[in-house]
Amino acid sequence: MRVGIEALGVAVPPTCVAMEDLARARGVEPSKYLDGIGTWRMSVAQDDEDTVTLAAQAGHMALTSAGVPANDIGLLVVGTETAVDHSKPVASYVQSLLGVGRRCRVFETKHACYGGTAALQMALDWIRSGSAAGKKALVICSDIARYGLKTAGEPTQGAGAVALLVSDDPKILSLEPDRTGICSTDVHDFWRPLYSKDAFVDGPYSVQCYLDALTGAYEHFQERNPGVTTDSFAAIAYHVPYGKMARKAHRQLRAMEGDLTPDASFEALVGSSLTLPAQVGNIYTGSLYLALASTLATSPLSLDGKRIGLFSYGSGSCAEFFAGTVTPGAQDRVKKLGLQSLLDHRRVLSIEEYEAIMRERDGLDTRPAAPAPADTFRYLGVDAHRRTYLAPNS
Ligand SMILES: CC(C)(COP(=O)(O)OP(=O)(O)OC[C@H]1O[C@@H](n2cnc3c(N)ncnc32)[C@H](O)[C@@H]1OP(=O)(O)O)[C@@H](O)C(=O)NCCC(=O)NCCS
Repeated sequence: MRVGIEALGVAVPPTCVAMEDLARARGVEPSKYLDGIGTWRMSVAQDDEDTVTLAAQAGHMALTSAGVPANDIGLLVVGTETAVDHSKPVASYVQSLLGVGRRCRVFETKHACYGGTAALQMALDWIRSGSAAGKKALVICSDIARYGLKTAGEPTQGAGAVALLVSDDPKILSLEPDRTGICSTDVHDFWRPLYSKDAFVDGPYSVQCYLDALTGAYEHFQERNPGVTTDSFAAIAYHVPYGKMARKAHRQLRAMEGDLTPDASFEALVGSSLTLPAQVGNIYTGSLYLALASTLATSPLSLDGKRIGLFSYGSGSCAEFFAGTVTPGAQDRVKKLGLQSLLDHRRVLSIEEYEAIMRERDGLDTRPAAPAPADTFRYLGVDAHRRTYLAPNS
């Protein structure tokens, strides 16, 4: 049985910040953010958006692009590290916003940026085992990355969601159980204590932990798949907290393979994966899958039937290097989603507007619910300690 990703959906807020403007406001050379970090636009969520609305929007795109009714979903999982409640999962809100039926397992997964991959691997096994009994899984990675104003992590924020429809009809990418390698270690590189809205990170250490975990996961992958090297792949998508990190990751793997000029293969193997992420910033769980969507939407090569490598890293840490085979026609399917046009239609905020939105978001979890027109999924506010949402046309 072929199992994998049948359809993709992507959601980003309608507003963003130009990194050049942010650099100037922070007294930093713009080239540091544009080239040194590798991001030129960073998505900023509005005050009627949160992890739930972004997840619902991405899930809606995945289902409608595949022509799959919500009732075909028998497993709905949201991977996130920026959930809206300590108990009620984001996935339950999404269930009602998308109209997913009651005969469905619904829950949330967490392991920093790896949470979505944990859900994806579990969904693949659920289909392979036969437990799905003809149903499909909807795995959504949704996050709003936030380090706070004027911190070192500020230029590596972002907001967005990627939904993956997982089934035995993988029209995008098929994924095999033995083509994966894992590495996990207990480290304190990035975390967000229960009392804080902003993440804490030991930046340089987190980069080192990412690279150590990449090494471990890739070694495990190669043990299970002897003879496979990075040249065996037509493209590689690495977890992208910021573009430069993907370059560091690629250098690491090529160096392990004895390549003395690791950058020479970067553009051909990795370049396309960064086109969309460079315009969105860090979306934590969804970052790898936005890189995958970017590869499929923007690669100048035909990837039909070709193998691509994927690397997922979640601080804390858990990492997985895995591989999939692109289904013929997948690139056209992803191109039809119009992802670049979605990004082109965003409004660029002034730095004053961005800072005001960041401050406003501090009060969102207690803001009283207020009615609003809905042309997309909206967060209204809190009513008797309950978050309330609106679906389009409801
Ligand atoms: C990414 C992060 C560590 C950068 O921290 P920083 O101290 O502000 O930035 P650095 O001084 O390391 O500079 C970043 C890069 O820009 C380069 N740079 C600096 N000034 C530059 C300029 N004017 N032009 C071009 N590049 C420039 C640096 O050389 C560095 O490149 P390198 O990493 O290849 O050495 C920080 O934003 C962070 O902590 N982010 C969150 C954590 C994260 O995403 N971790 C990833 C693993 S999950």
